[in-house]
Order: sequence, then C-alpha cells, then structure tokens
Amino acid sequence: MNASTMEQRIAEAVRFIEEEIPYAPEVGLILGSGLGVLADLMEDVTVIHYEEIPFFPVSTVEGHAGELLVGTIGGRKAVLMKGRFHLYEGYDVASVAFPVRVMRALGVQSLLVTNAAGGVNTGYRPGDLMLIHDHVNLMFRNPLIGRNEEALGVRFPDMSQAYSARLIEAAREAADQLGIRLEEGVYAGMLGPSYETPAEIKMLRTLGADAVGMSTVPEVIAARHAGIEVLGISCITNMAAGILNQPLSHAEVVETAERVKESFLELVSAVLPKL
Ligand code: 6GU
Repeated sequence: MNASTMEQRIAEAVRFIEEEIPYAPEVGLILGSGLGVLADLMEDVTVIHYEEIPFFPVSTVEGHAGELLVGTIGGRKAVLMKGRFHLYEGYDVASVAFPVRVMRALGVQSLLVTNAAGGVNTGYRPGDLMLIHDHVNLMFRNPLIGRNEEALGVRFPDMSQAYSARLIEAAREAADQLGIRLEEGVYAGMLGPSYETPAEIKMLRTLGADAVGMSTVPEVIAARHAGIEVLGISCITNMAAGILNQPLSHAEVVETAERVKESFLELVSAVLPKL
C-alpha cells in the first residue's frame, strides 16, 4: 500500500463506489459463512466486486463471494458485504476494518454483522441463533492501533455498549413475535484458522464466552470508533471442540447455516426496519 493516509484511501474507495450507486446507504450488513442468502432479499441492486474498489482487500475463502451490494432491503437503503475479510487469510487488521470505515463514509449509521460460530455454551445446539451482547477480543489485534485519525473517531473509544442495547431489544421483540428461539451471549473472537482444542474451549467458557468465531471483532471495534450502532447475530453452526464426540468441519458450518437460513432471514427482515 502506498503512502496515502487512511482518510485518503477511504475517500478514494468512496468516490469510486458513489459513482456506481444511485443513493447513499444508511444501513450496513456484513454476512458470515453461508449466510449470504440475505443478499437475495435485496432489491434494486448494484453489484460491485471487491477487486474493483480502490484499496479494498480481496476475499480468498471458499464460500465467501467478495461483492459489495448496494440496494434496498426491508425498505432500507443498504450496503451489504457478501463475504468479509478475515485475519487468518493474512490481512492485517486495518484491512479487515477498512470496509466498515468506507461504509461510514458512505453514510451508514447502523450495522448488522452476522457470523457462523461454534457453540461454547453447552446449552446451545447447532442451528441456534445467538444475539451477540458482548465480545471478548482474543485476537489480540485492534484496528485502531496507530495514529488516531480524529476525523474518524476518538483515540480511546468506549466499548461498554459495543452491541447496541436498543437493537438487541428490537431483535428480541422481533424474535418473540416470529416465535424464533434466540439465545443471547458473549462472542469470543479467535484468530483461527485452526479450530480450538477442547482445552481452549474450556478456557473460553471459563472466560465467559458462549460462542467462538474468527471474525466480527475487528469490524465492530472500527464501527464503534466511527459511531456506528451495531447489532450482531451469530449462527451457531456447530458445537465447539470437546462438547460432542465428533470432529469439526467447515462442511458442517456451511450445512447448518443453510438449514437455518429461513428463520435467519425472517429475523433479519423483521429487524431491518429498526436498524
Ligand atoms: Cl468451533 N471455532 C471458531 N474459531 N470458529 C468457528 C467455529 C469454532 N465454528 C464455526 N466457526
């Protein structure tokens, strides 16, 4: 990457995207493994491939599409990331957070992040949906490290309500009305790409985690820094290591996400108007 500042890189990406789209999005959506179906609900869509956007990283993982979609969904003007960037792919944390900063500069004020996660809480079952009420950053990376760009946000942003209580309440109400069972818990962000050992999962449970995954934390930190309100939903695609007597596989993650997509879509559709 050249010597341009973060602000200049954001501005260049925004300039490119704004030329392609008819209006400014107000809601951002980041979709996890197997949850890309949400994109099918979007109308009036403009598709922009990540490769085309200046300074955007490029996605490499199977099952992650790598497209930015702008359109309307649930009556909201939205920008949707179909496929996200992970630290385990080798991106630095600033690159992982970059799209969130671009979203903010495009006009986004609230963000829905979704992910596939392993169940750490032994009361969970594969297929459960979990509202993220807090996270533990065990990635030991932070997208805000380095000179703070005051134009983007403050040096020491508050994380005491990283996940909006207002949006959590809205999601709970929506789930109630739809009869969708919704867990609520703490997401532990790990680097991956290997899944955890049973000993590590036991540690995470002791630390207060209910679910574990390899994404979300960097994006949420960048979003809060930028003043974006966040709603996070994990799809518990499998139980984490050492809970069931079976090995973990990415195939199970994708299969389970596929199985719960109906209720996931219903829930998100009901919550979108409140974002
Ligand atoms: Cl068990 N661990 C991590 N780190 N990520 C996951 C997972 C487990 N299941 C789905 N994603």
